[in-house]
Amino acid sequence: MGFLVFALLTIVVDFAASQSLVLVGGNLNDGNEAIWGKVVELAGGRGVARIGVFTTASADPEDSAAYYIDIFVNIYGAANATYIPVTESSNNANDPSVAELTRQQTGFFFGGGDQSRVLKALRPRGRDTLVLTAVKDMFKAGATVGGTSAGAACLSDTVMITGGSSYDGLTYGAFSGGYKPLRPDELSYDEYGGLGFLAGWLPDTHFSERGREARLIRVLQDSRDRDIGTTRGFGLDEDMALLVLDLYTRPVGKVIGTRGGVFIADVTNTVVIPSETTNFEGVSVHYLTQDDTIDLTTGNITIASWKTNLKDNEYYNNAEVSNDILSSQRDRVWASAAAQFFNNKLDDVVTHYSYEKNPKFEITFDRVTGSGYGGIPPSNPEITVVSHQNLKVGIRENV
Ligand SMILES: *[C@@H]1O[C@H](CO)[C@@H](O)[C@H](O)[C@H]1NC(C)=O
Ligand SMILES: *[C@@H]1O[C@H](CO)[C@@H](O)[C@H](O)[C@H]1NC(C)=O
Repeated sequence: MGFLVFALLTIVVDFAASQSLVLVGGNLNDGNEAIWGKVVELAGGRGVARIGVFTTASADPEDSAAYYIDIFVNIYGAANATYIPVTESSNNANDPSVAELTRQQTGFFFGGGDQSRVLKALRPRGRDTLVLTAVKDMFKAGATVGGTSAGAACLSDTVMITGGSSYDGLTYGAFSGGYKPLRPDELSYDEYGGLGFLAGWLPDTHFSERGREARLIRVLQDSRDRDIGTTRGFGLDEDMALLVLDLYTRPVGKVIGTRGGVFIADVTNTVVIPSETTNFEGVSVHYLTQDDTIDLTTGNITIASWKTNLKDNEYYNNAEVSNDILSSQRDRVWASAAAQFFNNKLDDVVTHYSYEKNPKFEITFDRVTGSGYGGIPPSNPEITVVSHQNLKVGIRENV
């Protein structure tokens, strides 16, 4: 035992240089080596990494854990991956033996499902359990923490989104108190927040795929004055990750994955026009793709050097108008509209519409102070990606 503890401490101390998070947007393909491989690398590398798997969010935790364990060990070469058996009903998050098992890991991965289950089990009413304390101690000592879908949404130290659609959010606003199964479209959040790793940034997942841009903006705006409210958030697309390095010193986020991106919303300078209806101006929005980085303290963005500014080199003549800009059903409507907009020659302002009526929403994109960048990812020459910075968004309810 003495030797084991010594050996594990040695492993962790070797990686104490960086407190790193790997936040994944869900639908993580088991062949996405850039993301899985990064978790294993940050946890000590092939043959060394010991990953503690939390599938607390899942309706079937053991089965889900077996899936992650198989991938970590059999595809990505982790020395070991272990199910940490904390569930919504296991009532063992203060059990010292489970905390001890937790302390033997060099990395942790939180699986998908419902983020409210994770909070109920590991941090009921905002109080850290022994097992969560063990994860945090190991994280401070250098163990990496990753999560996908609900497993990423639960990692913040801000209010946590628990459900709802963009359209319902804009129509009725965001409510605290958590997810209500009878009203699944109601935009809800948990005012006690997530597990408490990443402060000041509210994460959302399955992002462009489910058209969650307006939901994120509305939650930020409606909860910004709460104790753990914030004006900045990001939305992770599926099969994509934001890698956050040096969390406690100078946190910088880097986008990994190929096909999608990470949406960033900042409502700090948003003007809410006083009225009976939703009327926001000046929401600042960015969309980062592979290898772009954001300094999470200053918000300063660095676009990957393999992308070029699209200015005067745009492909389309005009911006296309979407008549379903808030769609949660059709894939990537907002994301595609924004990419096309930055790749058009003539229009600096375009107004899109919601498909839904009564109320109908108008969403205006303004690129006068913004810029778009395009490029072919070195890892996949078959596609092109478009990032953008400083898109100003206005949201008006049209009665
Ligand atoms: C991982 O280690 C645990 C002991 O901590 C052991 O019970 C388990 O079988 C190991 N799993 C794998 C996949 O090697
Ligand atoms: C933002 O990043 C750019 C490019 O890396 C750098 O030149 C600039 O000084 C940075 N600005 C701030 C405020 O950190």
